[in-house]
Amino acid sequence: HFKKEWDYLLVKSGDELNLGNRTIKFVQTPMVHWPDSMVSYIPEEKLLLPNDAFGQHIASPERFDDELGWNIVHESAANYYANIVLPYGDQVKKALETINQLPIDMIAPSHGIIWRANIPKIIDAYTRWANHETECKALIVYDTMWGSTKEIATALASGLEAVGIPVITRSLQTSHMSEIMSDVLVSKGILVGSSTLNNGMLSSVAGFLNYLKGLRPQKRLGFAFGSYGWGGQGAKNVQEVLKSMGWELPAEPINIQYVPDPAELDFVRETGMKIGRIIKG
Ligand SMILES: Cc1cc2nc3c(=O)[nH]c(=O)nc-3n(C[C@H](O)[C@H](O)[C@H](O)COP(=O)(O)O)c2cc1C
Repeated sequence: HFKKEWDYLLVKSGDELNLGNRTIKFVQTPMVHWPDSMVSYIPEEKLLLPNDAFGQHIASPERFDDELGWNIVHESAANYYANIVLPYGDQVKKALETINQLPIDMIAPSHGIIWRANIPKIIDAYTRWANHETECKALIVYDTMWGSTKEIATALASGLEAVGIPVITRSLQTSHMSEIMSDVLVSKGILVGSSTLNNGMLSSVAGFLNYLKGLRPQKRLGFAFGSYGWGGQGAKNVQEVLKSMGWELPAEPINIQYVPDPAELDFVRETGMKIGRIIKG
C-alpha cells in the first residue's frame, strides 16, 4: 500500500504466534473485504479479531454492544455490510464456516464497537446477508425534476401497500445512496424511477445505479419507472441496468408522458399491486 519494504513476519492460514500467555491463530479470509484480509483468534480469551467483518461505523465512548443496545449496533452493522461487504457474500460464507467452529466470547472488529452480548444474533444476520436473504418489503428510489416521477412513485407505493407490502420510499434529493443501501439490504422488491433528461436518466439516478450495481445485491425483483416528454430513455435505461444485474424483472417499465393523469395513476397503482403480489410469492 505504501510501497515500502518493512520487516514483517508473514503469516498464513493455520499459522500460530505464541506471545507467552496468549496465542494468536490466523485464518486468511480473502476479499472480506480486501485481498489480504485475515481473521485472528486468541483461544485463551475466546476472542475473535475479524478485521472488517462484523464492523460498523460507530465511534462512541461506549466500547461494547450491550452498552449501546442491539438496535443501534445492528443498524450500523447492516449499513456497513450493505456499503462495504455486500459484494463478497460467497467469501463471507466461507469465513463463517471457520468462525462457526470457534468458541467465541467476544468479537472485536477493526471498525466500531466490540460484540459480546449479541454474538449469535450478529452471526445469524451475517449468514442471512451473505445469502442475499430479504424481507417481503419494497424499496422505491427515484428522482424527479418537476414531480411527475414522484407522483408515479407515490401511486406505486399505494398499490404495494394495498396488498400488504411495507414500502420505503427514498428520494435521491434527500437521501444519500449509502443510506439507501441499508434498505436495499432487506428489500425483496427494488423499484427505481427517473424522468428523462437529454435522452437518458437523471444523473442522480445513474450515480445511484452505478453504486448499487458495484455492490452486487442478488435475488431481487426490479422495476423501472419514470416520466418523459418525447423519447422516454430514462426509465428504459434504468430497466437495462436492473436487467444487467441479473434481477428478475416481473413487469415492463412504466413510462408516462409528462404529468400523469388520474387514469394513468390508477394503472400505476394496479401495477404496484401486481408487483406486490409477486414480491409476496
Ligand atoms: C432540460 C430538459 C431536458 C429534457 N430532455 C428530455 C429528453 O431528452 N427526452 C424526453 O423524453 N424528455 C425530456 N425532457 C422532458 C421531461 O422528461 C418531462 O418533462 C418529464 O415529465 C419530467 O418528469 P419529472 O417531473 O419527473 O422530472 C426534458 C426536460 C428538461 C427540463
